[in-house]
Amino acid sequence: MSAPTATSDALDRIRAAYSPQLIGALAHQLADLLQAHFEKVEDKDGPVLNWSPPQDCTAAAAEWLDRPPLAVSHPLDTNRFVEEFTHRVRAVLEHGNNLHHPRYLGHQVPASVPIAALFDAIGSATNQVMAIYEMGPWATAMERAMIEKVGRTIGLSAGQFAGLITHGGSLANLTALLTARNVSLKAAWETGVPTGNPRPVLVVHSDAHYGVTRSAGILGIGTENVRRAPLDDRRRMDPAALDELLSQLKGDGHPIVAVCACACATPIGAFDPLPEISDVCRRHGVWLHVDAAHGGAAAFSDRHKHLVEGLAQADSFVFDAHKMLFMPALCAFVFYRNREHRFEAFRQEAPYLFDPSAPGMAEYDSGTMTVECTKRAAALGLWGVWSLFGPQLFADMVDHTFALAQSLYERLTAAEDFEPLHEPQCNIVTFRYRPPGMANADTATLGDYNRRIRRRLIESGEFYIVQTNLNGAGALRTTIINPLTTETELDHLLQAIRHTGQELGGG
Ligand SMILES: Cc1ncc(COP(=O)(O)O)c(C=O)c1O
Repeated sequence: MSAPTATSDALDRIRAAYSPQLIGALAHQLADLLQAHFEKVEDKDGPVLNWSPPQDCTAAAAEWLDRPPLAVSHPLDTNRFVEEFTHRVRAVLEHGNNLHHPRYLGHQVPASVPIAALFDAIGSATNQVMAIYEMGPWATAMERAMIEKVGRTIGLSAGQFAGLITHGGSLANLTALLTARNVSLKAAWETGVPTGNPRPVLVVHSDAHYGVTRSAGILGIGTENVRRAPLDDRRRMDPAALDELLSQLKGDGHPIVAVCACACATPIGAFDPLPEISDVCRRHGVWLHVDAAHGGAAAFSDRHKHLVEGLAQADSFVFDAHKMLFMPALCAFVFYRNREHRFEAFRQEAPYLFDPSAPGMAEYDSGTMTVECTKRAAALGLWGVWSLFGPQLFADMVDHTFALAQSLYERLTAAEDFEPLHEPQCNIVTFRYRPPGMANADTATLGDYNRRIRRRLIESGEFYIVQTNLNGAGALRTTIINPLTTETELDHLLQAIRHTGQELGGG
């Protein structure tokens, strides 16, 4: 018995969902709504974060799904769809965190260049994906072109390196460390990580992102076999102490999977001395991986590229365009200095995907090098913005946000009731507010007080900043990652913290 064909109702609904005329009408409406949204947010007309408790927010989102769907009439009532679409777009825009608000100084997630999203939209609308080249030839080609440009900007040698793009810094670190594991523990891919003693270890920067330790768990190294390399007084990996640690580990017979350094580390944005660390690793014959998810962008700036000197000497490193190249999430690069390592992460045959009658194609099949099979066209926004504005835009934004961070640091230093916790090397500034009434408070009490200030401040919508734990106590943390932030906003931030602190009764 053949399956019943769709009813005319069902066919009308399907045709409406794919109607070019409807797509056009909604896209025109979206253009107007987005323009109005950016005008409002960039003009600080409204809160930064639209705070509501997660249960309320989820209930509100769910409520839309219980509304009766629109009737699909003949001919289609486009105006009615535009009207209902508008309500839904507004619901999205009015409940989010406004990263483009000049008072957003939060996580390492930027006020992205909005135009990039328009390029991304082309990829989503036409579902340009990859895994193998022929599925998304242009999407793949843009990635290849971006890998070449970004790799060369960071100082890799033409023709000698390889790279890939994946969904975020965490997955990028995992992929590179998988390669390191497979190269360092030769048969680990096929037979698993050796179980005997002494155990293989992963040596990491003490402030490494939690994704690095998580990788050790995922890769079968085990989180207990992560060794934290000592830091200097500016929280940078200390090459002499690393040298000693590696000698000790090797003396004790531990296979070393990799050393994982940072450019820069998350808490205060400290950049490791990469040339020295790379020398130490080379002497010990150990794979050097660098997490440059945030700081790799310094390479675009003549003023700041010294911070990532030596990055191109690492065996592998990661770099997120969705951080300091101000791209929408997610677009993370993995680079291998030696292109011979490009297929070491996944030593697999997948004949149904990779066509043996066209062997050269494997070079262009992203699935040979990434965790993902189907993969979004993640570099579309970057390709679009780079081709429109050129790389100078990225240098401008790095220089501008780094300078603003320096300016915030100077204000904190000058104010008697603030304690900057480090001199910024980039656009991350960590500090505590200590009003006269808390002059003698211990650091833990002060840290808790600062955390309460932050919670109240972000829920008010006045500013968005984050918190961290530094030397065992809470601290306020800002990333100047919205190029529309101004010096005046920095003054207002200090005032807002003081004001909120007084409301909490700590002054
Ligand atoms: C240094 C560093 N590495 C990796 C990550 C993780 O990147 P993602 O959030 O893209 O997974 C972060 C996130 O902030 C980070 O700061």
